[in-house]
Amino acid sequence: MPRQGHEGFVLWFTGLSGVGKSTLAEGLSSRLNSRGRIAYVLDGDVLRTGLSQDLDFSISSRHENIRRAGHVAKILVDAGVIVLAAFITPFENDRTMLRALMGNQFSEIFLDCPLEICRKRDPKLLYHRAESGLIPEFTGISSPYENPANPDLRIPTHLLSVEESLQILWDFMHEHYDIFSD
Ligand code: ADX
Repeated sequence: MPRQGHEGFVLWFTGLSGVGKSTLAEGLSSRLNSRGRIAYVLDGDVLRTGLSQDLDFSISSRHENIRRAGHVAKILVDAGVIVLAAFITPFENDRTMLRALMGNQFSEIFLDCPLEICRKRDPKLLYHRAESGLIPEFTGISSPYENPANPDLRIPTHLLSVEESLQILWDFMHEHYDIFSD
C-alpha cells in the first residue's frame, strides 16, 4: 500500500570510486523531490562519518558497512521512501544479500566505467593518494571490485552525459516501479 503516493524501493548504485554514484543519486533525488516524491540519498561517504564510523576498508568491514546500509535502506523503503543508495559495494555476495533482504523492492544499478578513466577523473584525488601508498586497501588499486554478474541496469557513465544517464534511470524507474500512483 503506497504511503507517499508511491511505493518505496531502492536503486542501489554500485561501482568504483569516481564513477558517478553520488552525482546520479543526487540528480535523481532532485528530480523526484521536485515532483513531490519522497526520495532520499543514502551515501557511503556520509554513513562512514556516522553509523559506520567505527569501520575501516577491510573486507570484513565493507561487508558490515553494506549490511548496515542495507538494513537502513529497508527501513526507509518500508516507510515508503524511494532510496538512492550510493556505495561502492564491491562484493557480489553483499549485493546478493541486499537482493535477498529487499526482493523486488531492490534494483542493482551498475555504473560501469573503466578503472583507467576513474583514475584520470579522480575527483577527490583519492586514486593519486592510494597509488602513493597513503590510502591502504583502496578499491581498484589494492582492494578488489567484483563486476556485477547480473545487474538490473548497467550504465556506462564514461560514454554518457549526466543528463543522459539520469534519463535512462528515470525510464527504468517508470518501467519497474509505481512512482506516480496518485
Ligand atoms: S564500501 O566498499 O564499503 O561500499 P563506501 O561506499 O562505504 O565503500 O565508501 C567509499 C568511499 O569512502 C569512497 O568514495 C571514498 O571517498 C572513501 N574511501 C576512503 N578510503 C577508501 C578505500 N580504501 N577504498 C575505497 N573508498 C575509500
